[in-house]
Amino acid sequence: MEKFNSSITYDRHLWEADVQGSKAYSRGLEKAGLLTKAEMDQILHGLDKVAEEWAQGTFKLNPNDEDIHTANERRLKELIGETAGKLHTGRSRNDQVVTDLRLWMRQNCSMLSALLCELIRTMVDRAEAERDVLFPGYTHLQRAQPIRWSHWILSHAVALTRDSERLLEVQKRINVLPLGSGAIAGNPLGVDRELLRAELDFGAITLNSMDATSERDFVAEFLFWASLCMTHLSRMAEDLILYGTKEFSFVQLSDAYSTGSSLMPQKKNPDSLELIRSKAGRVFGRCAGLLMTLKGLPSTYNKDLQEDKEAVFEVSDTMSAVLQVATGVISTLQIHRENMGRALSPDMLATDLAYYLVRKGMPFRQAHEASGKAVFMAETKGVALNQLSLQELQTISPLFSGDVSHVWDYGHSVEQYQALGGTARSSVDWQIGQLRALLRAQQAESPPHPSPK
Ligand code: ARG
Repeated sequence: MEKFNSSITYDRHLWEADVQGSKAYSRGLEKAGLLTKAEMDQILHGLDKVAEEWAQGTFKLNPNDEDIHTANERRLKELIGETAGKLHTGRSRNDQVVTDLRLWMRQNCSMLSALLCELIRTMVDRAEAERDVLFPGYTHLQRAQPIRWSHWILSHAVALTRDSERLLEVQKRINVLPLGSGAIAGNPLGVDRELLRAELDFGAITLNSMDATSERDFVAEFLFWASLCMTHLSRMAEDLILYGTKEFSFVQLSDAYSTGSSLMPQKKNPDSLELIRSKAGRVFGRCAGLLMTLKGLPSTYNKDLQEDKEAVFEVSDTMSAVLQVATGVISTLQIHRENMGRALSPDMLATDLAYYLVRKGMPFRQAHEASGKAVFMAETKGVALNQLSLQELQTISPLFSGDVSHVWDYGHSVEQYQALGGTARSSVDWQIGQLRALLRAQQAESPPHPSPK
């Protein structure tokens, strides 16, 4: 049962936050007159020693250290004696653990935020450098319309900027102080929670002690953030896996991000991308798992809540690895422009042929039908759409004239899409500018939350 009950194997990650929280709490106790200045100094000094031992790897766990909170207090008592017993006055592990977890997550989110911004920046740089590469855009995995390769990169980068914004929002709700809530009813000894908030640099104070000790919305939100971010990354990974097959041959992963086969000498497998795609499943599982744990819990703290931490640590590690590998994949990926260009085919310009007629005054529905007739005629004759003669086109509509030859140019095709958000060069440049501005704004907004003293 002791082994079953214990959480020290994983909540030891919280050692720094636990010391930080306890130092703030001892200041709160001193201000409330529950510790003398000398006792507070003794506790602060002892806690610094505890932190030093953790940092240097010399902290020795006892077999009956159930969790990080009991371990740190046990060690504090060994170091400074009976005064250590005053630190937990009016505090409960229920408000302590959730304070520690919020402190840890707040800092961790800043790290993940920086990694996500780095990935987006890498994608935007790549989009800027390769703006003039064209390739097929697909819907239903069927060739649809010619697009800029950069437009594809940016389509994924834009999704990730929503994740980046979302993480900052989640971080705001993580950044709320629960300390001073006690086990359930609050703090009866006059501890000033505003002082605790300022000491720990939280943005706000929780409103209700019963809610504060039992809600894990901030954990659920974080796990959902990770799930959605993984959805975006696994979709991008899937595209790149496909584009890297011999059948497409649009991209080639660098050797550093692929592996060989132990049996087939010719194989180069996109393991990096496959693992990114697969990690999504693990992250979703953690998110669903926590929600199952929370659902139907009776009011306030229940030991079920101890399960929150493994989910947070595992998902944080996964996200950190995935974001770094994705950045590496994107920055070292090779593209085969010629293959991309070769994959464009005149049938992808059938819409452009309809727009040509629209520009000559034909209603779109009619133009769509006329272009469809041209596609059919080309198919029947066994030639490419752009091989139909002007005379042949004129049997479909008298509006066709010599300038129809301009339609058969992929560069001309993409340049039509100048409305903001489209694939024309000016619009791609606009997107790049918007994303760069967003990255700058987020960097300015992102709270630094330095490692606790
Ligand atoms: N290790 C516990 C957890 O992670 C700390 C809180 C324990 N509280 C209690 N009332 N037993 O949730």
